Amino acid sequence: MFDVLPQLPADPILGLSTAFKADTNPNKIDLGVGVYKDEQSNTPIFTSVAKAQGILLEKETSKTYIPPQGNQGYIDGFLSLLLGKGHTALLEDRVAAVQAPGGTGSLRILSDLLKRCNSNAKVWVSDPTWANHIPLIQNAGLELATYTYFDKETAGINFDAMVACLEKVDKDDIVLLHGCCHNPTGADLTNEQWDKVLEIAQNRGFIPFIDVAYLGFGDGLDEDAYGLRLLTSNLPEVLIAASCSKNFGLYRERVGLAAIVTASTVTRKVVQSQIQSVARGNYSMPPSYGGALVDIILSNEVLKTEWVNEVESMRLRMSSLRQLLLDKLNENGASKDFSFITKQKGMFSFLCITPEQVQAVRDKHSVYFVGSSRVNIAGISKSNVDTLAKALVSVL
Ligand code: LMR
Repeated sequence: MFDVLPQLPADPILGLSTAFKADTNPNKIDLGVGVYKDEQSNTPIFTSVAKAQGILLEKETSKTYIPPQGNQGYIDGFLSLLLGKGHTALLEDRVAAVQAPGGTGSLRILSDLLKRCNSNAKVWVSDPTWANHIPLIQNAGLELATYTYFDKETAGINFDAMVACLEKVDKDDIVLLHGCCHNPTGADLTNEQWDKVLEIAQNRGFIPFIDVAYLGFGDGLDEDAYGLRLLTSNLPEVLIAASCSKNFGLYRERVGLAAIVTASTVTRKVVQSQIQSVARGNYSMPPSYGGALVDIILSNEVLKTEWVNEVESMRLRMSSLRQLLLDKLNENGASKDFSFITKQKGMFSFLCITPEQVQAVRDKHSVYFVGSSRVNIAGISKSNVDTLAKALVSVL
C-alpha cells in the first residue's frame, strides 16, 4: 500500500540540523533552526525553568489525565502575559482557550476550527512567512493567499503594498499576522502601522489570526505585545496561536496556547466546546509537563521576575550580535549595505542574498541557514562571527 507514496525532501528548516550534524568541518556554523544558543552554542535550560522543575517534582502526585482544555492555571497566566492583566476581553469572559502542543499545534487547532466555521475560509499570509504556515494551513483544508509584506530591495516592509492588499481582503477572510519578531524576515510593523492594520480590519471586517512565538525577543515583553493587545481590544473576533518554545526555552515540551477572542460570553462557551472537540479528535488533551512549569513560573512573583530577566538578557544579547555581525561584515569589506540587520527584530535576520549564495556559503564554508537567506542570529558568537562574516563576503 505504501508503494504509492513518493519520497519527500527534508523539511526546509528542520532538515538543516541533520545536514549540519553530518558535516565534519570543525569550523561549521549552525544558523538554521530557530533555537536560542548561548556564547558556547548551548541551549541551556532557563534557571527559572530549572527551579520550577524542582517545585513540580515535589508537588506533582499523579500522572492522571489533565483536563481537556489543559492546565487552567497555565492558560490564565499565559493569557494575562499576552493580553495584559486588565484586558477587557478577559474581564468580560470572552476568551476561549486551550493549551496545545506547541505553537504549531495551536495553529493547527485554530485552522481546524476555522474550517468548521467556514469550509471556504481563505487565510492570507505574509509574503514571505514561516515555511510551515503554508502546509499547515493547506493540510487543514483552508484556502491560502498571500499579501505583500517584505521588500528585498529595501530589506524592510513594503507597507503601502501591504495596505493595498489588505484593503482588498473580504469580510470574514482570515489574515495571519506575526505578533512580533517576524519569521523569517525580522521586519516588524511599527505601532503606527499596527494602528493602520486595525483600521483596515475594522473597515473590511476580516479576522486577524496572530501567531506570537517570540514575545520578549524584539523590544521587550510588553512592547512586543502592542499589536496583539491593540487588535484584541478593538475587534470582536481575533485568533491567537502562542508558543512558549522560545521565550521559556521549552521547545521539546511542546507548550502552546490556542485562544480565540469572541464577541460575547455566550459565543465563548460555544467556541470553547468546539476547540476542545477539535483537540479531542486529534490527540485528546495536551501533554502536561511544560504547561505546569510555565504555570509555576507565572504564578510565583520571584520566579517570574527571574524569568523576565532571563528573557531580557537573551534579547539584549541577540541585539548586540546583530551589531557585531554588521561591524564584522563592514570590516571585511562587504560590498552590500547590511545596515538593515540592526533594524530587524528578534531571532531572525533575512540577509537578502540569493539561494545560490546561501548554497555557496554552505558548500564552501559549512555555514548553515535557510535557503530564503534567513539566519538565526542567536547562533552567532564572538568566536564564530569573523568566520561567518568572511564566508558571507566571499560569496557576495
Ligand atoms: C523555526 O522557524 O526555525 C522554528 O520555529 C522551528 C520550526 O519548527 O520551524
